[in-house]
Order: sequence, then C-alpha cells, then structure tokens
Amino acid sequence: MIFRDFPLKLMETLKCRRSLHQYIVVFMFLVTLSTGSTCEAPSSPQCFRTSSATIMYLCEWMMNTTESDVSYDLYIEENKCRGIKETTCSINGDDLIQKRPVDIWVVAHVGNSSCTSSRTSVELRHIVKHKVPQNITMSWLKNNLSLSWKAAEKYPALAEVRFRRHERPTDSWETRMTNTTYETSKYSVIVVNLLKFTSYQVQIRQRSSQAGNPLWSDWSPVVTVPAELEQKPEVSMTTTLLNGTRKVTLTWKPMPHAAAVTGVTYNVMDTQSSQKCPCERRRPDIKSSEHQTYVSYSAVNISVMAMNAAGSSPPAIIQIPAQPAADLKSCDETVMKKKIKKKTCFEFYEFQDGDSRPENIITVTADKKKNRKSVKEFVRYLYFEHICEKGKPRTVDMCLVYKKQGAPRIIPQDFTASRETHNSVDLSWKAIPLADQQGFLTHYSLCSVKIISPEAQKECRNISASLINYHLENLSPGAKYSFSLAAVTQAGEGPNAETAINTLPEKPVNVLWSLSLLFVFFFISTTCTCILKRIKNKIFPPVPTPVIPNFTPYQAESQEMPERKEEVHELTLLQLHPEGKSVPEDAEETTILRGDWDDDTDEDVENERGDSSLSGGTSDECLGPGSTDQALKRSKGGEVTDLEQLDNEIAMLIYRNGLVFDVKTELP
Ligand SMILES: *[C@@H]1O[C@H](CO)[C@@H](O)[C@H](O)[C@H]1NC(C)=O
Ligand SMILES: *[C@@H]1O[C@H](CO)[C@@H](O)[C@H](O)[C@H]1NC(C)=O
Ligand SMILES: *[C@@H]1O[C@H](CO)[C@@H](O)[C@H](O)[C@H]1NC(C)=O
Ligand SMILES: *[C@@H]1O[C@H](CO)[C@@H](O)[C@H](O)[C@H]1NC(C)=O
Ligand SMILES: *[C@@H]1O[C@H](CO)[C@@H](O)[C@H](O)[C@H]1NC(C)=O
Ligand SMILES: *[C@@H]1O[C@H](CO)[C@@H](O)[C@H](O)[C@H]1NC(C)=O
Ligand SMILES: *[C@@H]1O[C@H](CO)[C@@H](O)[C@H](O)[C@H]1NC(C)=O
Ligand SMILES: *[C@@H]1O[C@H](CO)[C@@H](O)[C@H](O)[C@H]1NC(C)=O
Repeated sequence: MIFRDFPLKLMETLKCRRSLHQYIVVFMFLVTLSTGSTCEAPSSPQCFRTSSATIMYLCEWMMNTTESDVSYDLYIEENKCRGIKETTCSINGDDLIQKRPVDIWVVAHVGNSSCTSSRTSVELRHIVKHKVPQNITMSWLKNNLSLSWKAAEKYPALAEVRFRRHERPTDSWETRMTNTTYETSKYSVIVVNLLKFTSYQVQIRQRSSQAGNPLWSDWSPVVTVPAELEQKPEVSMTTTLLNGTRKVTLTWKPMPHAAAVTGVTYNVMDTQSSQKCPCERRRPDIKSSEHQTYVSYSAVNISVMAMNAAGSSPPAIIQIPAQPAADLKSCDETVMKKKIKKKTCFEFYEFQDGDSRPENIITVTADKKKNRKSVKEFVRYLYFEHICEKGKPRTVDMCLVYKKQGAPRIIPQDFTASRETHNSVDLSWKAIPLADQQGFLTHYSLCSVKIISPEAQKECRNISASLINYHLENLSPGAKYSFSLAAVTQAGEGPNAETAINTLPEKPVNVLWSLSLLFVFFFISTTCTCILKRIKNKIFPPVPTPVIPNFTPYQAESQEMPERKEEVHELTLLQLHPEGKSVPEDAEETTILRGDWDDDTDEDVENERGDSSLSGGTSDECLGPGSTDQALKRSKGGEVTDLEQLDNEIAMLIYRNGLVFDVKTELP
C-alpha cells in the first residue's frame, strides 16, 4: 500500500513546486523502492464454464510482468494447478467443489519472490462465460442487420451489439442489448433500423441466459459490415463469333463505395456450363470489372452477381439467344440415334413459329442420356450438337429435326380463289402453323376438278411448299371448277381445303376482234386477188381480153341469164377497129380458151363475171347473150368462113351463159 500511495505524494510534491533537486532525489528514491519490490500481484482469477453443458472449468487471470520466468499456482481451496506458465488453467469440474462458495486465488512466482492475488469467494456451478463470438456472418434485411455466429450452447443467450458508422471511426459506439435466437447451432440477432447504403463497424459480446452467475464474454474483434448490394451490376456485353464458339466479353460498373468497403467479388455463371453442356467449368470469383467467357451457339443465360461480406446483389441476367444459322436445314436421319460421348451434348429446342426464344429445351448429356426420351413426336426441334474443345464449348451441328413426322393436322387456312378470268384463277392461302405441320412440308398438292355432268375431271399438281398463292391457268371458260389444296409431308397428305369458282364465259371482245380480223383478211385477199389478176393480165399479153365497150345496158338482162341455159341470143358485133383484120390464130386461141373453161360450172362463171366487173370492167361492148355459143360452135367446127362473115378485123367475143369474155384487147 505504501507503493500505491506514493505517486500521489509525488504529485503533491510536484504541485508544491519544490526545487528540481528535490524532485530528482524523490524520483531516485522511488526507483530504488521499485527495483527492490519482488513482483506485482496478478489479478484475482475467474473460473467458469464456457457453457452450462460442459463440466470443464476454465480459470483465467492476468498479470503485468516483463519477466520471462514466471510461474503460477492456482488455488481453489487447495492447489489445483501448480507451476504453470500460462495465465489459464482448465480443470475438470468433478475435481472441484461446485455447490458451495469456495475461495480462489493465484500465486505468481517471479524469481525468488512470489506475490498472491486477492481472494474471491464464488459458487463455481453458477459461473458461465461464453467464448468470444467468432466468425460472425452478416446480412442485410432492408434496414435491419442480421448477425449470426456459432452458438455457445443450446439455449439462446443475451447479446450486446455495439456499432458505429464505418466512415466515422471516432464516433462513440451505439449499443443494443438483445436476446439471440438459437437455430441450428447458431446464434443470431437482428439490429434494426440502421441506415441504408451505409457501412458499419460492429462488435458483439454474449452472455449466457441460463447460468445463475453469467459473465459477459469478451468483445469480438471489430467487424466491418459493408452496405447492402441492392443493385444488380450494370453489365454490358459484346460477343464475337469464333467458328462455332462465341466469345462473350462482359464488363460492368463498380459497385457503390459503401458496399465495397471490404471488397467486392463477382460471380459469373452461365446456364451452359451449369448444365455441363458441353463443358463444366469452375468459375473463380472475379475481382476485376471485366470477364471473358465462351459459350456455344445455343441460347444461354449468363448471370453476373456481385458479392460482399454482407451478401450478394441480385444477379444481372444477360440472355443471349441462340446464334441463328443462316440457313437451317433438316437434319440427317441419323441424328436421333446418334450416340452421346463425354464432353458432348445435344440440345433439342422446341421450335416455335417466329420465336427465337426457346420454350422447352431438352438437354442430353452423357450423364443425362434419358432426357432424349422426352423428345416428342410430330414436333419440330432445333437440334444442336456441342462439343467441349480445350475447355471451350463449340457448336458443331445445328439443324431441324422431327423425332417422327406426321401428316399435317389441319387444312391450309383461308384458301380462297380470286380474280378468275375465263381461263385462269388466283388461289391464295395461309401457311399452316408449325405446330400443325407435324413434319417438313414437301409440297402442296393442288387439285382442280372441272365439274361437267355427269362426270368430273380431276387434275392434280405438286406446288412448292413455300408458296402461299398460285396462278392456275388453262381452265375452260364458262365452267365450274372446284379446287382442293392439301399440305404434304413425308408422312402423307393433310386434310384438303376446298374452294370453287366459275370461270368467265369467252370474252365477247375477242369474238368481235377475231371477226373483224376475219373480215379484214377477206377484204385483203379479195383485193389481192383482183390486183394479182390485173397484173397477171398485163404480164401475159397473149391472153386476149374481151372488149366490152358498154356493158351496163345489158346488166339487167345478163342477170337473168342463169335461168336460160341453151338459149342463143342474137349476136351483135360492134366494129371497134375498122382497120383491124380477122386473124385465124385468134380463133384458134379462142377455141383453146373455151376448151379450158368447158368444165366450169355456172357458179364459177358467175364469179368470173363478178370479178371482171369488179376489176373495173373493160368498157367492152356487150353482146347478146348466148350468141357466142353459136359462134364458138361454128368456130370449133372449123367454119372459118362464118367468122369471116363477121367483121374480119375485130376481136372475137365469146359469150356463154351471159358471160362476156375479153378475148383480145389489142389489135395487131
Ligand atoms: C497492467 O498494467 C497496465 C498499465 O501498464 C494497467 O492498466 C493494468 O491495470 C495492469 N494490470 C494489472 C492486473 O494490474
Ligand atoms: C535468490 O535465492 C538464491 C538462492 O536461493 C540466492 O542465491 C539469490 O541471491 C537470491 N536472489 C535474490 C535477488 O534475493
Ligand atoms: C472461422 O472461420 C475460419 C475461416 O473462415 C475457420 O478457419 C475457423 O475454423 C472458423 N472458426 C469457427 C469457430 O468456426
Ligand atoms: C431476453 O429474454 C428474457 C427472458 O425471455 C427477458 O427477460 C429479457 O428482457 C430479454 N432481454 C432483452 C434485451 O430483450
Ligand atoms: C426491421 O425491423 C423492424 C423493427 O423491428 C421491423 O418492423 C421490420 O419489419 C424489420 N424489417 C425487416 C425487413 O425485417
Ligand atoms: C472452323 O472449324 C472447322 C472444323 O473444326 C475447321 O475445319 C475450320 O478450319 C475452322 N475455321 C476457322 C476459321 O477456324
Ligand atoms: C433464360 O432466362 C429466361 C428467363 O428466366 C428463361 O425463360 C430462359 O429459359 C432461360 N434460358 C436458358 C437458356 O436457360
Ligand atoms: C407429287 O409428288 C409426289 C411425291 O413426291 C409424287 O408421288 C407425285 O407423283 C407428284 N404428283 C405430281 C402430279 O407431280
């Protein structure tokens, strides 16, 4: 006690502002006393169990010493731990008197001297002191912070939590006392109403709620609780195609500072590797804000999640659709039976109309071969085959496949005929939805039936499966047709859609047109004939031309001619050229001419006459009909004399049945 009081006296001395000499003397005295002391007594020991369930007691004490060679004796009524070097000693409870208060003390031995702690009297059974809460985990529940650690015993304990904002380490601690909950050998407490977006420093200590004389545990080390990661990472992505593999580069923005005080790691996962299709990859936690990964051409979801000590952010999910092949073909027949090897996987996407997002994906891997059984019949699948090559997935095949094909289930919709003409019609329809096709359409079968009673003529044709309209030609005008259209797959023909039309009657415009054409043709041919005749007459001068100076007056009479056949009329010869002479050769020619025409019918003759009158009718003098016959008979008979009786020099006219023949036009 002398030593303890001494500093106070020293202070008083100093306060009295005595001389420096005096101060030094006193100080020297103090030092001398101190070196002469044997040791400083250790604190009185605490003996406790760490939980009410254990029988081991732990005794702890403290001693301030710089000496290295210190040993202790612990007394609980009697000497229990002898000559130990540490300041703790554990004793089996069976060796102790627990149920009545006992004196406990400790003796420290330093060199030759020993010092004894003060004695305390305790009932050991009641004393429980839990260990320091360790490995504290934390998570945010909005504004409430949940903290948990390994439970000290099976019963809830009392916990004291103290905290302050991380960015203000000089602030005083705020404390909360709370009962812990006990669950699955964990204690947890919830610290309510903390600030959002704020990081905290936290310490916890705990105390048994079961023991009669519980002691507070020591404070846990300071734990930094980062703010909650509330936002999912903002990820941007670029993909590069590498021959069946897609290189995906992901970059993201750093997380807010308060959430990142103890560091943030990122976890990138993709649905392909989590399904081992085809590669199984371990993804280390990523510290940087960029990551590269490789995926196959199949659709993939990549999730990026930020994690800190207090939890993880919601995942940012990047959906990368399947890389569409430029031209999807139908698969080989063998695809459905292909054996699956390790590091290979097949995928079957139920193929939907106009939807690149897969609905039901069946993934077949070496581990999950049975999945192939769930591939349905009559359903179109987009098939993928991936391999794992040097740890990177690669798509090696991509095509369309049916496990089994069926005939189309429905008719082509909205099958209509329009714009019918007399011989053609436009047919249009809507493509059958994929789900109803049940197979690859090979073509459409289009049949037309011309309905003519009593029987119908059916005519079918195959048209491309890609068409949705067709121009049908070569129909008969004014007929009733019915058309049927069915889509056809390898498995057969689907139901028929039907429609009917009546073709228009032949176009009147066409009739008129052809009629007028016919007329023009007639006119031209007639004209040509006349012109040709005239030309012919000019070219062949030897053919004599009958000269009929004035035919008109006898027109009326000549028309009556056909009725009278063998009537001989009075022959009138007009002298046209007084100087002309009758030439016997002329007569001969006439004879020949007549002979040629002898077999001609009356009709021909009439035509001839019409022609000659059409051709402008030489202004030859008309002779009495029938008279020429006589003259001809005579000339045939060789009676030249009779002819000579006529005017010698004129051309001869042969008249038969009212026809005038121009025998000779020019005189020699
Ligand atoms: C040990 O010394 C420190 C200061 O040096 C003092 O605060 C503490 O109380 C001492 N401990 C004991 C058990 O005397
Ligand atoms: C300690 O004891 C030993 C003999 O037991 C003696 O030689 C030594 O001088 C003593 N030291 C002190 C500091 O008293
Ligand atoms: C606490 O965690 C560390 C590593 O995380 C581990 O080595 C240690 O055993 C844990 N302690 C307890 C009491 O669980
Ligand atoms: C803890 O629970 C005990 C008993 O259930 C109760 O008496 C005590 O008030 C609670 N302490 C706190 C801080 O809630
Ligand atoms: C946080 O604690 C308050 C106060 O106990 C409570 O009303 C609230 O429901 C808690 N919030 C959550 C998310 O648990
Ligand atoms: C793509 O892969 C095929 C098959 O392995 C290979 O033959 C071809 O050379 C590759 N092309 C490129 C550009 O790497
Ligand atoms: C990706 O995620 C979406 C939405 O959760 C889901 O519909 C789709 O099936 C997923 N795709 C893959 C390939 O897992
Ligand atoms: C249509 O195609 C089928 C199958 O290819 C064939 O059997 C049939 O003869 C074809 N019909 C016509 C009219 O070409």
